[in-house]
Amino acid sequence: MFAVVLVGGFGTRLRPLTEHTPKQMLPICGVPMIEWVVGHLAEHGVQEVGLALGYRPDAFLNAYPNGRIADIPYRVAVEAEALGTAGAIRFAAQEMQLEETFLVLNGDVLTDLHIGALVEFHDQHEAEATIALQAVSDPSRFGVVRTGDNGRVEEFIEKPPAGKSPSNHINAGTYVMNPSVVDRIPEGRPVSIERETFPDMAEAGTLYAMQSDTYWLDTGTPGQFLEANLDVLQGRRKNRPSMPLATVHPAAQIEESVIGTGSHIDAEVMVKRSVLFTDCHVSRGATIVDSVLSDEVYVGEGTRLEGCVIGSGQRIEAGATLIDQKRPGS
Ligand code: GTP
Repeated sequence: MFAVVLVGGFGTRLRPLTEHTPKQMLPICGVPMIEWVVGHLAEHGVQEVGLALGYRPDAFLNAYPNGRIADIPYRVAVEAEALGTAGAIRFAAQEMQLEETFLVLNGDVLTDLHIGALVEFHDQHEAEATIALQAVSDPSRFGVVRTGDNGRVEEFIEKPPAGKSPSNHINAGTYVMNPSVVDRIPEGRPVSIERETFPDMAEAGTLYAMQSDTYWLDTGTPGQFLEANLDVLQGRRKNRPSMPLATVHPAAQIEESVIGTGSHIDAEVMVKRSVLFTDCHVSRGATIVDSVLSDEVYVGEGTRLEGCVIGSGQRIEAGATLIDQKRPGS
């Protein structure tokens, strides 16, 4: 089966990490997110993926010049301007001449979803499109889905006000689609699958949804991105990669953190629940908690960073205290 992976968004909530790098090229335990996503698809028998690209497409093309990601071939469709989630599906399906049922994924979701079960559910119910659902405690940040007994979607509401949600089952960002869905998406303007296409299909009675309770995480905010790294590190997800080659002084304390390749941690440093990308330097006596540091960040002596997101190449001077701050890259 063929899968379209949506990876063209600006990733504004993850700035400054996404200033120069698309979200799906950010590292989860040292491996770009797109490899986790495509690797999962490959394990479930997907034979080829189509990347729906928009923001900084070269980052992908340069990283995978031989036309393969996670050992399966990929094709690309590059939007001249952002077409929204549905517009991107339409554009990719046309560019890639998709004529059979295909998968669509939000490229910023990590999940162990059983893809084969979703496809089987879709076929059995003769659906036009089928959404994977996930149960969450606070659905207000997501697309909420109410289904009837047979799995038919009766209502699809994107980001309902808190406390007003008709269900706690949310759109998990993996879909099976018949090619006819493409004809429902208007051409020539940005279209959101969550705000237009799915609500229309729910009304038409052709949209179905299957519940799943596997590992699932949307990585769109700094807190979620940090969680994604820690989940892999701590084995809450399968396939823990080996994290190589940072230099950590024996008198430094590292807890629940990912220290990227080439980074250097001095004595009496404390790093807790944080992710450092490659080639960072943390000087003596610094404390870093609940933070994400991009590549080549320099942290001066005695500095304290808490809840911060620091862009690449930034220098944090000695003795500074930064709490809940975002610093753009230099
Ligand atoms: P924020 O700006 O922080 O909301 O992030 P985002 O731009 O990634 O948006 P969102 O998280 O809602 O997007 C969900 C998925 O769809 C992500 O994998 C995006 O890369 C992708 N996406 C969003 N908009 C577009 C688009 O216009 N074109 C393409 N090709 N993909 C998109």
